[in-house]
Amino acid sequence: MLATVYKRPYKVRIEEKPMPRIEHPNDAIVKVTRAAICGSDVHIFHGLLPDTRVGCTFGHEFTGIIEEVGATVTNVKVGDRVLVPFNISCGSCFFCKQGLFGNCHNTNAGSTMGTGIYGYSHTCGGYDGGQAEYVRVPFADVGPMIIPEGMDEENALLLTDITPTGYQAAEMGEIKNGDTVVVFGAGPVGLIAARCAWLFGAHRVIVVDHIDYRLEAAKKFAFAETVNFTQVNDIIQHLKQMTDWLGADVCIDAVGCEAKGNKFDFITGKLMLQAGSATAFEWAVNSVRKNGHVSIVGVYGPPGNLTPLGSIINKGITIRANQANVKRYLPRLCEHVLAGTLNPKELITHRLPLEEVAEGYHMFANKLDNCIKTILIPPRASSQLTTGSVGTFLH
Ligand SMILES: NC(=O)c1ccc[n+]([C@@H]2O[C@H](COP(=O)([O-])OP(=O)(O)OC[C@H]3O[C@@H](n4cnc5c(N)ncnc54)[C@H](O)[C@@H]3O)[C@@H](O)[C@H]2O)c1
Ligand SMILES: [Zn+2]
Ligand SMILES: [Zn+2]
Repeated sequence: MLATVYKRPYKVRIEEKPMPRIEHPNDAIVKVTRAAICGSDVHIFHGLLPDTRVGCTFGHEFTGIIEEVGATVTNVKVGDRVLVPFNISCGSCFFCKQGLFGNCHNTNAGSTMGTGIYGYSHTCGGYDGGQAEYVRVPFADVGPMIIPEGMDEENALLLTDITPTGYQAAEMGEIKNGDTVVVFGAGPVGLIAARCAWLFGAHRVIVVDHIDYRLEAAKKFAFAETVNFTQVNDIIQHLKQMTDWLGADVCIDAVGCEAKGNKFDFITGKLMLQAGSATAFEWAVNSVRKNGHVSIVGVYGPPGNLTPLGSIINKGITIRANQANVKRYLPRLCEHVLAGTLNPKELITHRLPLEEVAEGYHMFANKLDNCIKTILIPPRASSQLTTGSVGTFLH
């Protein structure tokens, strides 16, 4: 089968690989029909995850058709069309039982921190991912969900990660009616978080980035006010001025470890003197009001970052952060998508054949051609291949 293969930092290629096979009775093999490239893939593509082995297949956002099931699988059967959450969860551990599927204790043996994630290095369990024609899906009775009747497959695909992540970002901000919410990052995750902030009662939503076409998308997709941080002298001062000098009620970090805007952070992050650049987090802490909430979904690795702990304690900030508990949000988000309140596929700007995955990474990582979300279509999946820029936002 064809699969994306990691060669070295900044280099992936499409290659022939052996078909995955059932390795445990609760496995399924899924024939991938759509896969996406995520902002998290950019971190791994750039070599920022420690145990990323040559030859591994990336891809944690995918939909497909069940091709084969192990002997104990009962929740899905051959031929079912499924979406598969990016976290691999056992469904029965201390954490899964509480709906904390992103913190499952059983799918990344030996780690007390990260759960297993498809295509996300041996640091996250060593599972091959879905930017391929076929993928092995462990705990097939837990993760895969049959795509509801009437749901567009591209929307289903975006329910595997960015939509629950953005929604959870807003939820973790504990937004109250009338709140002002600032979202750092106008990538797919930040745009969904900004859009979802309204669902939780926000009165004002402000999105910060430095890429104008993405800020334009924030206006159209998330109905947000926008700030280009390179166009203002001091972003924290600017945000305070916009919020009666008290600061925002809620700030969301949807940027993570490759944040721009502070040369010191950026260089020390690249040199691994800290676990990536935590500039967006620092801006969130400094521009939220006293007693405000900061929600982090941008990804950072261990061991640690230079962060403004003094501001956090003296301002009395509540911080919440997590990997998305995708499965927990699927019932609610399916309702939103089927009702039309959320239409995440509006964020898709590029649809490429899987064979062009290397170009896809280059374009997405460098934000070329007005790229927001890129999806990949394997050769044997029925498809309509088109490229183009954003044009069909809801108003
Ligand atoms: N917690 C989770 O479960 C989860 C799930 C998916 C993605 N993520 C993470 O969320 C983050 C965003 O993902 P994405 O797909 O939207 O990525 P993306 O790379 O498309 O978007 C990041 C955006 O942040 C902007 N940016 C850079 N520095 C900034 C700064 N200082 N202030 C404001 N904006 C800045 C970039 O220009 C870019 O538009 C990544 O770190 C990704 O790993 C987390
Ligand atoms: Zn992701
Ligand atoms: Zn579990």
